[in-house]
Amino acid sequence: MVDPDVVHQDFQRRLRPIPPQGMGLSVDVYSPDVFELVKQLRERGLRPGYLEVFKATTTALTTVRQALSDLSLAYHGEGLWITQPDVQASPFFQQDVREMVTQLNSIQSLWLNHECAMKQMAGYSFGTYVPPLYTPLSAEVVAGNITTIQQAIDRQGRRADGTSPLFLLELPPLTYFAAGTIPIPHFFRLVTDLVPCGLVLDIGHLWTVYRYTTARHRMALEQFVKKFLDEFPLERVVEIHVAGLACHESAGAVELGAEPPAWLDAHAAPIPSILFTMLEQVLAHPNLVSLRAVALEVDTKPIEMIVEEYAEAVRRFAPVVQQTMARGVAAEQPMDQRASSRSVQEQLGQSDRQQLSDDYARYAQIISGQVPLTGPEWQDVAEDQTGLTAYRASYLPYEILHWGGDLTEMFPQTCRILAVRGVSLPEFVAFWFRAPRPLTESYDFFLLKIERFVEFVAEFSPDAQVCVEQEGEILRQAYEQANEVVGPAMEMERAR
Ligand SMILES: [Fe+2]
Repeated sequence: MVDPDVVHQDFQRRLRPIPPQGMGLSVDVYSPDVFELVKQLRERGLRPGYLEVFKATTTALTTVRQALSDLSLAYHGEGLWITQPDVQASPFFQQDVREMVTQLNSIQSLWLNHECAMKQMAGYSFGTYVPPLYTPLSAEVVAGNITTIQQAIDRQGRRADGTSPLFLLELPPLTYFAAGTIPIPHFFRLVTDLVPCGLVLDIGHLWTVYRYTTARHRMALEQFVKKFLDEFPLERVVEIHVAGLACHESAGAVELGAEPPAWLDAHAAPIPSILFTMLEQVLAHPNLVSLRAVALEVDTKPIEMIVEEYAEAVRRFAPVVQQTMARGVAAEQPMDQRASSRSVQEQLGQSDRQQLSDDYARYAQIISGQVPLTGPEWQDVAEDQTGLTAYRASYLPYEILHWGGDLTEMFPQTCRILAVRGVSLPEFVAFWFRAPRPLTESYDFFLLKIERFVEFVAEFSPDAQVCVEQEGEILRQAYEQANEVVGPAMEMERAR
């Protein structure tokens, strides 16, 4: 058995070399332009304690490292679906992990932050994050996958001083629903008992947990936050995120009622004041003893709004963040250097893995509306189906048809032909989820959209096949060229 105390000591050993970063920003290289952002911050006399940079091309990240040599950088990863029992069997897993370690090294990152969520499961693909199944078995799988990734970081990412970046697991947002058999804080406790990772507590994500679970019927927000923090492994929280929230542009939010508003994680949107009230409550909690950093997540947000929000947040929170970080560093005791000797993966049997794979296949089919709600992890959702219905009927079709590339703009000629032939675009949503399909490359929603739409048109309107292939090829070439030169061709709004 893995001993949680030994695991925690290993965590503390890994945490110790990470210096306090204070308040900073979690940014994208391109959206908005990170150099312009830093310039405007400097003009206002603001210097972020650090920047957490979202995954981009290695060339772009290296450029950022060189140009901002006086700033501490951290890395926000993407595309390692650590919630999935079969992720390590994927033909792209090794390659994706290698690329991630290369990028960690290219910016000399302090940590790898990754969402505890996925955009692909059991052969089905989504455009934005869906949360894991909150079950004990799922927690074990997450811990096993983190162990493998941390080992790769330790092997390939070790620095001259002998330290290596620490894996941080982020509490993911809910998009109208959550499925599971155990409370969410309990899930994270199971993970941290098995693996020496740190955690990222995203305040806006926590708000969505309140909004889209039964908690909001039972207690006030402040009481929910207190209860959550008391049960969550808060002593593992290394970084806090605060980002905007907003109602989604698809119609689903209307069905969910106005009180509290049906907000979702939205980095372009202003940060509502309720999140700063929650931040105060989190920072005051005595168990928050490992904090190193607090970031506003501001990718896709207008620069003027970022500067205003950051200035205000620093004015209000910098002293208490400093105190909280000092509390943690002072509390650290010299610890035993032993690392947990047995890998958590040894505990997981093949039948457990198969069971969870089946659960995730059912998960994908349930949320895409292919099969009815069945299984113990769907009990709460079955009692109040409003959220899942909004996800199925509005959010998901919007994601497939418009998000990360609007099909009528991507394929204007083809869409005109389809309209004449009487083929409606919503049929593409049903086609997308009709059956699981093996992955043909590392996750890229834009490329996947092109591939699937070409297949759809070939089947539903074969006379438009030449047209769709031509339009698809033009898109692919433009995308590749833009990635090589300046970064993603399309500014893809991300839910992180
Ligand atoms: Fe976040």
